[in-house]
Amino acid sequence: MCGIVAYVGHQKAQPIVIKGLKRLEYRGYDSAGISFFNNDTLFTYKTKGKVSDLEEILNGEVSDATIGMGHTRWATHGVPNNVNAHPQASNSGNLVVVHNGIIENYASLKEELISRGFEFHSDTDTEVLVNLIEDVQKKEKVKLGKAVQIALSQVVGAYAIVVFDKRKPNELIAARLGSPLAIGVGENEFFVASDATPFVEYTKNVIYLEEEHLAIIRRDREVRIRKIKNDKLIKPYIEELKLSLENIQKGGYDHFMLKEIFEQPKAIKDTLRGRLLSNEGIITLSSLREHENKFLKARRILIVACGTSWHAGLVAEYMIEDYTRIPVEVEYASEFRYRNPIIFPDDIVIAISQSGETADTIAAINIAKEKGAFVYGICNVVGSTISRITDTGCYTHAGPEIGVASTKAFTTQITVVSLIALYLGKANGTLSRFQYQESVTELDNLPTKVESILSLKSYIEEVAHSFKRAKNCIYLGRGYNFPVALEGALKLKEISYIHAEGYPAAEMKHGPIALIDKEMPVVVIATKKGYYEKVVSNIQEIKSREGRIIAIVSEGDTQVKELADYCIEIPESSESFAAILSTIPLQLLSYYIAVHRNCNVDQPRNLAKSVTVE
Ligand code: AGP
Ligand code: GLU
Repeated sequence: MCGIVAYVGHQKAQPIVIKGLKRLEYRGYDSAGISFFNNDTLFTYKTKGKVSDLEEILNGEVSDATIGMGHTRWATHGVPNNVNAHPQASNSGNLVVVHNGIIENYASLKEELISRGFEFHSDTDTEVLVNLIEDVQKKEKVKLGKAVQIALSQVVGAYAIVVFDKRKPNELIAARLGSPLAIGVGENEFFVASDATPFVEYTKNVIYLEEEHLAIIRRDREVRIRKIKNDKLIKPYIEELKLSLENIQKGGYDHFMLKEIFEQPKAIKDTLRGRLLSNEGIITLSSLREHENKFLKARRILIVACGTSWHAGLVAEYMIEDYTRIPVEVEYASEFRYRNPIIFPDDIVIAISQSGETADTIAAINIAKEKGAFVYGICNVVGSTISRITDTGCYTHAGPEIGVASTKAFTTQITVVSLIALYLGKANGTLSRFQYQESVTELDNLPTKVESILSLKSYIEEVAHSFKRAKNCIYLGRGYNFPVALEGALKLKEISYIHAEGYPAAEMKHGPIALIDKEMPVVVIATKKGYYEKVVSNIQEIKSREGRIIAIVSEGDTQVKELADYCIEIPESSESFAAILSTIPLQLLSYYIAVHRNCNVDQPRNLAKSVTVE
């Protein structure tokens, strides 16, 4: 995710780009930059930090340039700093590009370009792309649009890009595959942006660039659109922009949390991108490959995390032990840091954190390192503290998570853990080739299953309506679904302020069942794989005490349907991946209950997105 804004026309480009970038900072905010062309000179200013830091550098001066582009970054390759910020320039300095997405095959392309004499100054995949375009220009002697088209046909990954060549200062080339781009069509002026918010006050005429389309945009003529693959000319479809400014930033959703819940199919795909080749049965995680023996010889794996990330750690415990038979222990980072933990030099510590800035988790990492453990980080924010202090790690690539309640971070953390568990299970022979391949295929298909669960949102909203006045709620699950029960309860607590507790379903008998009465909603995760029959018995125990039951069941379930007051049916899956699927309806349930209670869903009271203090 990142924010792209470009302009060509008769107005000053700089103010339009800067204001537009500020509206896109929800898409990424770790570094920012702008390029504009004036008096035969291409100017570029870039900085780590926010767009306001970029404005500081511009120092109040406004160029007369009427063509320019800017970028607010969400780093995927290369830590946030001035050099890795976009726009990225080609070796000759003639080309600049801004890019949203991931070039999966950037390493091999970079190697090839270096062999042809190109030099690289940044750690980004984007700098490879801009030099690939330059290389094609030189070799094929073609126009910029054609060079971009040829270069993109060699690229594997996701991109939304805008390219500028200072030798053709009236033209912008835009192209997309997997990341969004909108083109605002004004009176002899054109805007390109990641969404329409940067130009909503200038024009209501918008072209949403479609997948694998490339647009040639010149100030003095109509936009021309071609298919990247076959160069076919496409008639631009100009539609009227109807959304409000605030609404567009949330992609048309009422809250960032809902947007991020619905981003999960794409987020999981982005987590897997370049790491899972399911047809070939290959998992590539360089951070794991380089330390494979350390993991395989580990005495045990300790997981430290907080909140939702701690719940992901519990799923990781089940999965890693299940797939690899390596002992795993999960610790609240806040407890671990103060209890003088026993850590062996052949222990491996995995720290899980969306923000990469959680104080307790950072402290736990430092203690583990002091005691000689090898520390692996799973973070979402590139260049965050945890990503820098751990020995190595893996990014979830979920994109910015703005809603305080963690949703896509949780499911992408479990996706990364699945890759790790499968990789190690295959490497140490615990998983048979058949089990491994079956799981790899299922993992690859998860986004589609998540998509189908999201289509149940209207029914889930209806169910939520019946529980909006609940005072308490109990969540139950067994096996992999026990951490999901905890996560579902946390979601409800933190955004609707209803007291909720998650338990292992079997624990009901050891006390909590005393709470059951007709006022007590009980959410039970009763998917088919795993301890289904046992969970059905738990449901009967609750039913016999008049508890109101919301059950998450596998599609086609009939048994629980007879017992529960509401049944939310999700696609069947292996028990280990049920954790990702069964959490989706619980996210939606808590979201709609909170909305019905008029709670501040994106910024719940007393909470912060990242707890950087003890
Ligand atoms: C989850 O919805 C909460 N926002 C909170 O529990 C969060 O998971 C916890 O603070 C850990 O944050 P981190 O993943 O950024 O370390
Ligand atoms: N992959 C590019 C980078 O890391 C673009 C990231 C983004 O989408 O902001 O710079």
